[in-house]
Amino acid sequence: MVIRFMNLQNAHIICKDLFKIFKVADLEVVALRGLDLIVNRSEVVALVGASGSGKSTLLNILAGYDLPSAGQVTIDGKNLIDMKGREIEQFHREEVGFIWQEASRNLLPYLTSIENVELPMLLTDTSNKERRERAEHLLNMVGMSHRLTHTPDQLSGGEQQRVAISVGMANSPSLILADEPTGELDDKTAADILDLLGEINQVNKTTIVIVTHDPDIAYKVGRVVVIKDGKTSSEISRQDKNVQISGNVDKETPLEESLLVDSNGRIQIPEDLIETVGIAEKVSAQIKNQEIIIKPSESQRQT
Ligand SMILES: Nc1ncnc2c1ncn2[C@@H]1O[C@H](COP(=O)(O)OP(=O)(O)OP(=O)(O)O)[C@@H](O)[C@H]1O
Ligand SMILES: [Mg+2]
Repeated sequence: MVIRFMNLQNAHIICKDLFKIFKVADLEVVALRGLDLIVNRSEVVALVGASGSGKSTLLNILAGYDLPSAGQVTIDGKNLIDMKGREIEQFHREEVGFIWQEASRNLLPYLTSIENVELPMLLTDTSNKERRERAEHLLNMVGMSHRLTHTPDQLSGGEQQRVAISVGMANSPSLILADEPTGELDDKTAADILDLLGEINQVNKTTIVIVTHDPDIAYKVGRVVVIKDGKTSSEISRQDKNVQISGNVDKETPLEESLLVDSNGRIQIPEDLIETVGIAEKVSAQIKNQEIIIKPSESQRQT
């Protein structure tokens, strides 16, 4: 039996049964184990999960920095696994903007803010004048027009991340991937950066995938996907799907929690439910009134 994904017409990102295995000396580390994920165009999705659950591994694959060991990954209809060197370079440059957690990693230390933003445009067909104007426009948009000629060491962490967001948007990518972009920032600055990403999403219709450890993230974005042991396991979304990403905690809009069913019909049952009901290795599943009831199997009860 295969669960068919619903309506993929509007999908920007499709990951199906992704695996990533790292080899370290003689050991194999399975970082992703059959991960499924669909992100629609113009959607904002936050990825959360314990340290080591595979979030950065996934983001690096989505950015085209790394290849999965198995499975499919399609972005805007393009299969990343089939892409050749040149195509991947163009994909990096024009279709995705990547923001790292460490502000310093996003910017070249010896370039000014404006030069950093111009850099990704150098390999595209833009004139010097266009480049400068666009860089100024982007820095203006993130509230950094007063710091055009500062180098990163002359900027605060939050200011560096604002410039990094401008760099990520330089070539107008339709997708922004951000790996804990607010991890090093204080709460107020982190909220401002989320507001900014929300604005970019609203104005440019940019799809945004953001990895975060923020415990309140479900009250700030429309959809949160939980990754557990290298798989998407559950999802928390706000019942009002049109809610805008913002740095403010909005507890008015109710949350809806769901377990995810993968492409093979598997679900991960939360540990607290397993413990409460006393499930060990085997369960029985029955349909009752259009509901599936899962309980410890009879043989388990008898032992
Ligand atoms: N280059 C690598 N070589 C070997 N193992 C790796 C490599 N990158 C990641 N791993 C392993 O893969 C697993 C997933 O790592 P990943 O960095 O994706 O986790 P994460 O969810 O981003 O964690 P964190 O929240 O701490 O950033 C971990 O067990 C990690 O040790
Ligand atoms: Mg990580």
